[in-house]
Amino acid sequence: MKKKVLLGICGGIAAYKSCELVRLLKKSGYQVNVVMTRAAADFVSPTTFQALSGEPVLLDTHDGSGGNGMAHINLSRQADVMLIAPASANTLAKIAHGMADNLLTTLVAARSCPLAVAPAMNVQMWNNPANQRNLALLQQDQIKILGPAVGEQACGEVGSGRMLEAAELADLLCDVWVPSVLAGKRGLITTGATFEAIDPVRGITNISSGQMGMALARACRAAGANVSLVYGQIQTMLAPGLAYTEQAVSADAMLAAVQRLILEQDVFISVAAVADYKVKNRSEQKLKKLAGQTVPTIELTENADILATVASQPNAPFCVGFAAESEHVLEYARAKRKKKGVPLLVANDVSQAMGKATNQVILLDDEQETILPQMSKDDTATAIVARLAQLLAQQ
Ligand code: CTP
Repeated sequence: MKKKVLLGICGGIAAYKSCELVRLLKKSGYQVNVVMTRAAADFVSPTTFQALSGEPVLLDTHDGSGGNGMAHINLSRQADVMLIAPASANTLAKIAHGMADNLLTTLVAARSCPLAVAPAMNVQMWNNPANQRNLALLQQDQIKILGPAVGEQACGEVGSGRMLEAAELADLLCDVWVPSVLAGKRGLITTGATFEAIDPVRGITNISSGQMGMALARACRAAGANVSLVYGQIQTMLAPGLAYTEQAVSADAMLAAVQRLILEQDVFISVAAVADYKVKNRSEQKLKKLAGQTVPTIELTENADILATVASQPNAPFCVGFAAESEHVLEYARAKRKKKGVPLLVANDVSQAMGKATNQVILLDDEQETILPQMSKDDTATAIVARLAQLLAQQ
């Protein structure tokens, strides 16, 4: 059955982004019921949301749209999750104090489903101590605060308070249903392909897209972890809601970034396809093809193994490695887990995984070897996080 999202919209210029949000949520298979404050209707017409959601849009407590005249009870009973985007400072303040003076705030008070809010306001309003006090109250009440982002604002100022983009909100909304098995944990993930320069325009890289690591970053975030991500070359969007992200393109740069961040971590998940070798005779200038010149030789030298370096440190975080194999997957993976000294290793056949949307992996740890079915990288990541959380809990 379709999951039902009750989407509240407050008055704010960011309401235009919510049109796209409704479209994305519908596309992902949700039923979306929109409730607007009167102020919201000054920014975007209810007709727009009605057309996008395919459902009647409710504006106020007594507009009579609910059959029994109790829209606040009916809608909140049916919803699987409630999201307010944009959430104004005024509505957040009212919710924090249990006020119910319009349909939106009444629905919040009468709901039994989880609530997430995406604040949108001017930077001064965001920083206002009263607003910050209200946000702390909302968090105490298990209300998820999504964003805001930092950036240029409609008023011309720059700072915190921009509503997250529709695609980011659609991604973060799913977290509401995920059990917080990594709550309070800090995790560092590497993903993507490294790039080893030959000259200023050429290099050695591989076909890793970064999707598996990004899926793991999302899954760890959804499970409540504070996630840092170090990524090489990727062909996927950066996941929203991560605590820290940094691009490090060469193996040396990735190692340096990991070593800088690793001390604070409980978990290290090494998904990056790191080049085993870098170019020893890298040219500062672009190599020229001159008539009569012999074919240039590229000399290679070994890169450090980032995962093995981290795993061998005293007080190392819980390490998860990947094994990309093209043959003898299980046999090579067992050997790799021992060699790198990691408690959990995810083995896959490169022909089934690299650059693709799905994956089929085997999880190897001290207790068991689990063959997972071919599934989306998001589902694979969820299964890896579930096993990781079990093993962490046993430590
Ligand atoms: N890895 C790493 N640093 C390297 C090479 C690999 O951190 N220089 C990590 C990868 O992120 C992965 C694991 O080690 O988690 C295994 O990577 P893989 O490419 O499968 O194996 P290699 O160690 O490179 O061994 P081989 O190429 O012989 O299979």
